[in-house]
Amino acid sequence: MAKIVYILNGPNLNLLGKRQPEIYGYQTLDDVRQLCEAQAVEAGLQIVFRQSNAEHDLIDWVQEAREHGAGVIINPAAYSHTSVAILDALNMCTFPVIEVHISNIHKRESFRHHSYVTARADGLIVGCGTEGYLLALRHMATLLSDD
Ligand code: DQA
Repeated sequence: MAKIVYILNGPNLNLLGKRQPEIYGYQTLDDVRQLCEAQAVEAGLQIVFRQSNAEHDLIDWVQEAREHGAGVIINPAAYSHTSVAILDALNMCTFPVIEVHISNIHKRESFRHHSYVTARADGLIVGCGTEGYLLALRHMATLLSDD
C-alpha cells in the first residue's frame, strides 16, 4: 500500500491566487493540490491535502497523520509564528516533517522571522513560491524511499 503524506495548510491559504499575489503568486491552492497529486502518483505516494483557518483542525490532522501517515508537509501560515500547540502535535510524530513557506519569511517583517514549527522540521523550504510544495514532496519521497 502507498505511503500517505499529509500536506497541511494553515489560515488564509484558501485564498491563494487572490491573496496578495505579489507575495504569494497567482496559483490557487487547488492548482497546488493538483500538481502535488500528479507528483505523488509518480513517486508512488498517496497524499492527503487539506487547509483550515482553525488551529485545532491542523492539530487534529497532525494527530491523524501520526496514526495513518508516513510524513507531514506543513505550511502553518500565520500559526507558524504563534503556535506552540502545532509544534507540540508535531513533536509527538516520529516521521519526517517538512515546513514550507511560499514567501521568504526572513525577507519580510521581523515577526515572521521566527517559526515555532522549525524546531521540529527536518526540512524547511522558504521563498520558492508554490513550487516549494513540490520540492518538499520530492524530498519527502527521498526520505521515505530510505525506509
Ligand atoms: C506564509 C508566511 C506567513 O508569514 C504568512 O502568515 C502566511 C503564509 C507563506 O507561505 O509564505 O500566511 O506561511
